[in-house]
Amino acid sequence: MRVPGDKSIGHRALLLNAIAEGAAVVGGLPAGRDLAATLGALRSLGVSIAEMPGAGARGNRVRIEGRARWRADEPVDCGNSGTTARLLLGILAPRATAPVTLVGDAGLSRRPMGRVVEPLCSVGARIDSAAEPRPGIPDRLPLTVSGSALAGGSHRLAVASAQVKSALLLAGLAARGPTWVEEPETSRDHTERMLERMGAVIRREARRTRVEPGPLAALDVDVPGDLSSAAPFLAFAAAREGSRLAVRGIGLNPTRTGFLEVLGAMGARVEIEVEGDDPEPRGTIRVEGRGLRGVRLGPEIVPRVIDELPLVAVLATRAEGETVVTGAAELRIKESDRIESIVRGLRALGAAIDPLEDGFAVQGPTGLSGAALDAASDHRIGMALAVAAVLAEGESELEGAEWVDVSFPGFFERLGAGAGVAT
Ligand code: S3P
Repeated sequence: MRVPGDKSIGHRALLLNAIAEGAAVVGGLPAGRDLAATLGALRSLGVSIAEMPGAGARGNRVRIEGRARWRADEPVDCGNSGTTARLLLGILAPRATAPVTLVGDAGLSRRPMGRVVEPLCSVGARIDSAAEPRPGIPDRLPLTVSGSALAGGSHRLAVASAQVKSALLLAGLAARGPTWVEEPETSRDHTERMLERMGAVIRREARRTRVEPGPLAALDVDVPGDLSSAAPFLAFAAAREGSRLAVRGIGLNPTRTGFLEVLGAMGARVEIEVEGDDPEPRGTIRVEGRGLRGVRLGPEIVPRVIDELPLVAVLATRAEGETVVTGAAELRIKESDRIESIVRGLRALGAAIDPLEDGFAVQGPTGLSGAALDAASDHRIGMALAVAAVLAEGESELEGAEWVDVSFPGFFERLGAGAGVAT
């Protein structure tokens, strides 16, 4: 199979080209609501984006040209997308030509923004709460960014977050001196790869990245398939002995492939064939289901498998022995509290799973039987519980199934066809 384009890379292809000089064509964009939020936000800030023919199975194609006004008449709506909101904060902090207010849906408005706002303000950004003006560092949308001159600086992140790192690097391109960002573990590096190809002066050493102020040159991007969207299908294949699945044209950036390592460690047969590497590795993944065993995962692998951890919980219900995931407190502040929402859903299906402060523990294997489930307004929880429901005996009903449209419209039809079940 092939899956929709990579959401993380798609956001960046649009946002980075929006601040670059010249025009670029971006192909393979996923049709989900998160990418639509970035497209809409950039258009409202005056970026010219035209749909191009060639959309379809391979994703949408647009021509994008920067030269934005970097101001908007109305609040800019980031929808449910944390990447849109956080990266835009970094882009707007030195560039906004009038105060710009960023808003989001109810879920995004609950998520922490202080992790971006605080370091940006420490180098001179002006970001205020648009809802309740009061002194201090605001932590939630809606936020109003007034463009201001930024100094360079050194930022040491408390958590490995590609969104925070990217926001600071994009702000740094328009600061007065070099910007350093250091993270505790390496998070996904799509921004750095794209910046290198767009002519930024950027230096990367282990977990430290330095960027100098300077212009970017527009870059055509062909977005590879999203490993996070392939993961539910890979999990399903891995959970059934004798199943085989090949996913083609998929992004294989090593900062994203932790789930493939986990599948291998749990006992599935996994083959990876890299077919290209510019600027992102891509290729084919083949997975064959064999008997699964439990695994222990800690903070060193978590950033590389963060969005697939709900699926690890699902697989753990099929695995022999205990699976323990720790060092993943970030799960609590994703589109939902993913520890709570996956524990609730899998328990309803009959799994033996306990929440931990920073992860979960599963005793396997247990039989699963159909139940009433809730996607918790979270696309990844919706997809993970759908895989669990398909593996379970009997019928399940998933409340909030429409949330999967955030990253993967058409998911249920694909899962039903692949798994040979009615959806
Ligand atoms: C993303 C980074 C991760 C990830 C999210 C997308 C990105 O979040 O969970 O789905 O595109 O940069 P954090 O940066 O908060 O870890």
